[in-house]
Amino acid sequence: MRPSTQAVHAGRPPHEPDQPLNTPITMASTYVAGGDLEYGRYANPTWTAFEDALGTLEGGRCLAFSSGLAAVATVLDLVGNGQKVVAPRHAYNGSVMQLADLEARERIKPHLVDVTDTDAVVAACEEASLVWLESPTNPAMEVADVPAIRKAAHDAGAYVVVDNTFATPMLQRPLEWDVDMVVHSATKYIAGHSDVLMGAIVTRDEELFGVLKGRRDLVGAIPGAFEAWLALRGLRTLPLRMEKAQANAQELVRRLRERADVAEVRYPGFGGMIGLVLPTGEKADFVQHATELWVYATSLGGVESTLERRRRWKTEAPTIPDGLIRLSVGIEDVEDIWEDLARALDASAR
Ligand SMILES: Cc1ncc(COP(=O)(O)O)c(C=O)c1O
Repeated sequence: MRPSTQAVHAGRPPHEPDQPLNTPITMASTYVAGGDLEYGRYANPTWTAFEDALGTLEGGRCLAFSSGLAAVATVLDLVGNGQKVVAPRHAYNGSVMQLADLEARERIKPHLVDVTDTDAVVAACEEASLVWLESPTNPAMEVADVPAIRKAAHDAGAYVVVDNTFATPMLQRPLEWDVDMVVHSATKYIAGHSDVLMGAIVTRDEELFGVLKGRRDLVGAIPGAFEAWLALRGLRTLPLRMEKAQANAQELVRRLRERADVAEVRYPGFGGMIGLVLPTGEKADFVQHATELWVYATSLGGVESTLERRRRWKTEAPTIPDGLIRLSVGIEDVEDIWEDLARALDASAR
């Protein structure tokens, strides 16, 4: 099956009389003992349906988590005490904060890199235990040479993980580059409707899958059944949503690049996320409040267009331009979101 078909059909009940087309929401803290499920922290049929679908799309076995950051924490927990972790300096701020927290407690030694400088990342892989990649990065929109870095990391004996939240398996399947794990904030494009928090880890490595599942069982960073159902319902339309968001983003990028009042438009050529850099933080602040259709909000990957100046967060990397607005382009009519954004930009000049 091709990806668009997988998104629709993977993780459904069998085509048998009286089976529902959609996996039901199983609200159960416990199951009659003696089978495979046992207890609600270990398994839930609604999670399994979601995991089958996302695992099929990424090409591995998937584990669902209560949030993207719960998935990130579970991966970082694989790193031994005092071991080195290579990661992008501009990875999602929450992931960088987790690294900083673990460093402050002397758990791990993070080594932050510019992921666009492949030689530097390859050099940094030496003696690493884990190489964290996010490509494109949030919100700098940098793209890493994953295959080259993967090779250097494996030569050093390190695990390689890619946070694939921005690209989604519709645009990039990192397991095909032989990385060990893919992480998602399923809160974003996978679920796609700004109504649920969820995370996921996908791997082809059975042993690693067992270790990660064991961590989830032990720590309990599990999603609710309703959340898994919502995320699965959202995932069914991921191909269509990504296609439309990407088409809208590409058109906005073309128009934004023609404007003299825009300092820089960061866009890797694919996906629905844009880094719109205005000359000053003040202008960016003005614009994020001046739109009517675009929602001033911190999340991304929903059907509705959202925007925020990233440096409004005090913990965001100081190397992110003060005037950078992260645009999450939705699936509205491109003319409406363009007119709204252009109006806000025009007003910022007055
Ligand atoms: C790239 C990326 N990874 C991970 C996360 C964390 O996910 P969650 O908010 O679902 O915990 C986010 C959230 O913004 C993200 O953008």
